[in-house]
Amino acid sequence: MLILALESSCDETSAAVVEMDDGLRRIRSNLVASQIAVHRLYGGVVPEIASRAHIEAITSLTRDALTEADCTLADIGAVGVTASPGLIGALLVGVNFAKSLAYANHIPLVPVNHVRAHVAAALLAHPDLRPPFLALVVSGGHTSIYGVEDYTDYRLLGGTRDDAAGEAFDKVGRVIGLPYPGGAAMDRLASLGDPHAIKFPSPALPGDTLDFSFSGLKTAALNHLNAEAQRGTPIAVEPDCLTAGPAADLAASYTDTIVRGVVKKAGAALSQTKYNALVLAGGVAANSHLRAGLEALCAKRGAALYLPPLSLCGDNAAMVGAQAYYEYCAGVRGTTALNASACD
Ligand code: KG4
Ligand code: ZN
Repeated sequence: MLILALESSCDETSAAVVEMDDGLRRIRSNLVASQIAVHRLYGGVVPEIASRAHIEAITSLTRDALTEADCTLADIGAVGVTASPGLIGALLVGVNFAKSLAYANHIPLVPVNHVRAHVAAALLAHPDLRPPFLALVVSGGHTSIYGVEDYTDYRLLGGTRDDAAGEAFDKVGRVIGLPYPGGAAMDRLASLGDPHAIKFPSPALPGDTLDFSFSGLKTAALNHLNAEAQRGTPIAVEPDCLTAGPAADLAASYTDTIVRGVVKKAGAALSQTKYNALVLAGGVAANSHLRAGLEALCAKRGAALYLPPLSLCGDNAAMVGAQAYYEYCAGVRGTTALNASACD
């Protein structure tokens, strides 16, 4: 069946058409209108601006996604939309647009959880992938480990108690002069530095818990930056010209600490559970150091690792459409009373 999917939970408006059936997972179109250039002026996402930009983009983007998929609304079997979690105003734009479209055209409406949608990106990329598996979701808003028993049966095994990994990358990136969101540039900068230059506290909480805490690590990095500034040796980068040096050493040490912490808990999750496959998901899944760390872990453990392609790591509607299909099969439907929720 063809699913029209919409995503508007944060700072990307996206519309996609995916074709899903038993044994078939195909992206027919997946258009993303990014608002990053607008929010960059403010150093982070401004929720009100995000909502307005979603309103401006969503109609034409949906039309273009249908055209590119070579179909019309008459061919669509379900409309999937991210209904939670995210910025409430931003989510409401997608939810209300999807509700109207579905109601007016007599198409079933399927609300989708954004975190599950990130995991579904791996389902699109790996046609052979089936639950059960472990899912490690690392994004701007989440750092969580789930036991995925079935396509719609998610069990939270651990997660961050404060900030998310993406947020931690963006915050330090911003302080050293990288434009929002700094995650991808931090990744490149880290490749130029010494990962053992500075010792930072691990985000992996001690003991058997699968929980994380990034706030201590973030504060330690900011303290380091303040101390260097007070010493008269401030650490900063030219975003267009990343080179080896103190900023690269900081990025490398900080990244190494995050990667080790996340890999440690992923390893603990594999040990503590029966799962022998690990799916990486979310915007931070694009991080080359994290991908390498998890590849090494899974090779050592003999576990299968499913990485999303870089094109499906960030927010996009194709992943929403893939998850919508499985929610639809499980009988999940949204009515005209469907509301958005900022929380999971
Ligand atoms: O999943 P996503 O697009 O949005 C949320 O649902 O939060 O994730 C965005 C996050 C941002 O924090 C961004 O800096 C981070 O993913 N990110 C990266 C990389 N690419 C994007 N973080 C580290 N390394 C990267 N290569
Ligand atoms: Zn996301």
